[in-house]
Amino acid sequence: MSKPILFSGMQPSSDSLHLGNYIGALSQWTQMQEDFDAFFCVVNLHAITVPQDPAELAQRTRATAAQYIAAGIDPQKSTLFVQSHVSAHAELAWVLNTLTGFGEASRMTQFKDKSQRYGADSSSVGLFTYPMLMAADILLYNAEAVPVGEDQRQHVELTRDLAQRFNSCFGDTFVVPRAQIQKETAKIFDLQNPTAKMSKSADTEGGLLKVLDEPKANQKKVMRAVTDDDMTIRFDREAKPGVSNLLTIYQVLGDRTIESLETEFEGRGYGDLKKAVAEVVGDTFTPVKQRTEELLSDPAELDRLLLGAADRANEVAQATLDRVYDAMGILRR
Ligand code: TRP
Repeated sequence: MSKPILFSGMQPSSDSLHLGNYIGALSQWTQMQEDFDAFFCVVNLHAITVPQDPAELAQRTRATAAQYIAAGIDPQKSTLFVQSHVSAHAELAWVLNTLTGFGEASRMTQFKDKSQRYGADSSSVGLFTYPMLMAADILLYNAEAVPVGEDQRQHVELTRDLAQRFNSCFGDTFVVPRAQIQKETAKIFDLQNPTAKMSKSADTEGGLLKVLDEPKANQKKVMRAVTDDDMTIRFDREAKPGVSNLLTIYQVLGDRTIESLETEFEGRGYGDLKKAVAEVVGDTFTPVKQRTEELLSDPAELDRLLLGAADRANEVAQATLDRVYDAMGILRR
């Protein structure tokens, strides 16, 4: 029996993934690739909805792909490819733009947030139509499951609406996907500000653990993580967000339970906990960093992998786009 299809995407918007990406997305994806026919897409066309430096964007696109492979996305099992290598994404996005209401798109909360942040005048129409490009990504591959964070739920809902709308107007064409929201337990917070999600847009670098940073630098950041003056090591998200965050990191990366950690660290100081967390972070990131550097040192081989995956992706995507054009009466070659 064939496996159900999964699609997810990641923006090439930083040089290095951080621990939040690693735990929230990547480690779950590497597990899911066993049970799904998985497509993972580096969405460089989404990235240009906000200004990018061209050389940096090209480098980050490769570096993002390399980190996913290094962390366990197996290019033999999964199709890991770059969005711009498959032209059907931009084409289907155009079609979906014509089926989306202006008001409907205006209600997307991510657009509202981002356009407020950048100001209405410097927000591009591309930022406005971002969700329809994302819908195109998903629908081209007949994906059933779309693993995303809570912040992307509304975009997947829009994708479902567009798929259903198309199917009822033009005949059954798209699979209607569902969002698979990442587990709340896997939420990682900023080390300096442990009530805010760990995010690349954090106020201070000190709160962010990056996969490609020097292990020593990450160790320092863990040792300096904000805790509290209650001095007991127990999980309490409300009263002890900093300590709870450290426990979560250890739980996930060390494959432990919170209870066993609370027992192990009973009567011990925060310094001990931090040392142990720093070690497990180092053990996790070091091999990923090494493998990423290996992959990036041979760009021709990396491009060969990505272009091979793009061929596979293109075959599925083009077949869907052909069905769409035929259903709508759009002439094609
Ligand atoms: N918008 C997603 C994010 O910022 C990235 C993305 C683009 C995506 N296309 C996708 C995620 C398709 C899932 C499916 O996280």
